[in-house]
Amino acid sequence: MHFSGPQQRSTYTLLFVIVLCGVLWTGYFLGTDRDRLGFRQLGESSFAHHPSPPGQATGKPLGFPYTHAADVTIPAGVKVIGLVFFGRRELVQVLDCYLKRNLKAYGGLLDEVIWSVNTKMEDDLAYLEELVASSPHYRKHKATKKYDWYIGSWEAVDDPHAIYLKIDDDVVYFEDNAIPAIVKRLLENPQYFTISANIVNNPALSWVHRNMGVYEGYYPEMTKPSHSPPKNSWRASQLPSYEGPLEGPEGFAINGSTAAPFQGHRWLPVRLAQDKTYDMSLSPASLLTYDPFGPGLSSWTAAAQTHYSFLHHLQQGDTWRYKFDTWDFNYLRLSINFLAIRGKDVMDVFPFPQKDDEDYLVCTRPQQLRRRVIIDGTALAVHFAFNNQYTAFGGKGVRWTDALDRYKAYADEMICPGLLRPDVKLPKVEVS
Ligand SMILES: *[C@@H]1O[C@H](CO)[C@@H](O)[C@H](O)[C@H]1NC(C)=O
Repeated sequence: MHFSGPQQRSTYTLLFVIVLCGVLWTGYFLGTDRDRLGFRQLGESSFAHHPSPPGQATGKPLGFPYTHAADVTIPAGVKVIGLVFFGRRELVQVLDCYLKRNLKAYGGLLDEVIWSVNTKMEDDLAYLEELVASSPHYRKHKATKKYDWYIGSWEAVDDPHAIYLKIDDDVVYFEDNAIPAIVKRLLENPQYFTISANIVNNPALSWVHRNMGVYEGYYPEMTKPSHSPPKNSWRASQLPSYEGPLEGPEGFAINGSTAAPFQGHRWLPVRLAQDKTYDMSLSPASLLTYDPFGPGLSSWTAAAQTHYSFLHHLQQGDTWRYKFDTWDFNYLRLSINFLAIRGKDVMDVFPFPQKDDEDYLVCTRPQQLRRRVIIDGTALAVHFAFNNQYTAFGGKGVRWTDALDRYKAYADEMICPGLLRPDVKLPKVEVS
């Protein structure tokens, strides 16, 4: 080929680049299956409640959900501090590894975790001593005087520049992305008063999740199986299928008005033939409402279905189905199981002029300041149980399921052994 001048040469170069791009682009599409483009999800099974075999491609739409946290930068002088209202060791035993994994030492964002003492139980307090001794970045705080309700637990907040992560002691799962995502969202949006994680088992959010189609048909196993089920299993695929009336087993009411059948009972998946779908309106989740004080707060059966459905998606690798960008809670009452708040915003008003700290921090105060409460839908966390769900029938509610053992088994297998997060880029922290 003969080039007569610079102009013609650049024309040929441009032509070559265009052809090359075309070849690469075609190659990309030939190598991309239908699943990755999200066709399968639109075409079939996403609204039917047939459990897919584990490991099957999950139809995740390309680029969704983005991680809001990949490039979080913490400004110089800003600490990120976990604040856990400590009470019950059987629950904290699950949370512990998730928190350690989020310490700076392991590639997370947390400078430290403060365990705010919220119990008088001797055994739990003894466990707290062990817990605090297990990490140089753990410490406890005991309120120096008496306050109403939970207000004393906020006394530990003493750094106005820090971001605090208020986490309930019964958060039993959260994704690596959760803390970075809500911290970043708070840093970027001074107009927001607080940012909550996208919490599974949070009254109004359970209604949101149900409408997103993530609930699965599950009913309690009413009689003890003749062979004891495998210990330490969190995998939903290993559960036997529910066999009984589609309306649920005899002696069981979906509205939570019947006690759990026996301690450690399982909930079993409704598995139907490929041409049948389960009618979700038969299930406890059908009673959920967009209401912070609805059945999502009080029903142990809705909580049980929430957890077994979540564990199902956890094994399937499609927890992305729970996610969205943001959800504006306006000034609606939000249960504060997992949120990020600035130290200054707490210290400005401590001790709160209202004994219900939750109502004050998500309704009264944000409304006064006209700074809203936002859910970050990319920050997924699971809350085990509200008091009514936990203590229903003297503890014969969600506590009598084996869901907590399943979360513990998951943490023991998947989180605790790999505290260091090699897959996660260390956050950029500007050192002052
Ligand atoms: C709950 O369901 C049972 C059985 O369907 C029914 O008898 C009972 O009245 C219900 N309770 C409430 C509070 O709705």
